[in-house]
Amino acid sequence: MATKSKTGKFEEVRKEADRINSEARTADRLMEGIARLLNREMLKYNWVGFYMLEAGANPPALVLGHYQGAMTVHTRISLHQGICGAAASSGKTVVVHDVKKDPRYLACSIETKSEIVVPIFVHGKVAGELDIDSHFLSAFSDEDREMVEYCAELVGKRLEGK
Ligand code: SME
Repeated sequence: MATKSKTGKFEEVRKEADRINSEARTADRLMEGIARLLNREMLKYNWVGFYMLEAGANPPALVLGHYQGAMTVHTRISLHQGICGAAASSGKTVVVHDVKKDPRYLACSIETKSEIVVPIFVHGKVAGELDIDSHFLSAFSDEDREMVEYCAELVGKRLEGK
C-alpha cells in the first residue's frame, strides 16, 4: 500500500472534518467529533481537547469540554495560566515545540513534549480553544497549524449559528 503524502493526509482530515460538521446536529457534537477525528487520524496528536470560556465567569476561566486522551487535572484554567491561558488572552495560536523550555507550560502528562493551542472565535471574540498535546518534540508544523485552525474555525462558525 502506498504511503499517503503528508499533504494528502491533511486534506483527508479536513474533508472528514467537513463531513462531521455537515452531520453534527449541534456545535457540541461537532467538537466531540473533531476531538475523536484528530486523535484517531493524526498519529502525533496524543491528547486533543476543547477548553471553552465559562459564560459569565468573573474572573474568566477556561473549562474543559470534549477531549480524547488521558484524563487531566486541568479541568479549569484561568487566563493567566498555561499555554491555554496565553492563547485565549492573546487571541493567537500558540505553538510550543518543546514544553520544557516554555515557563508558561502547565503539565498535563509527563509524556507531553510539544503543544499547540488554537483560539476559537465567535463573532470576533475568543469563546474557547482547541488544545493538542504530543508525545513528540516539534510535532506541529505550519501545515498542522493550518489544519487545526481550520477545525477551530468550523467550531466557531457553528457556535455563531452558521
Ligand atoms: N498544557 C496546557 C494545560 C492543559 S493540558 O495540556 C491538557 C497549558 O499549558 O495550558
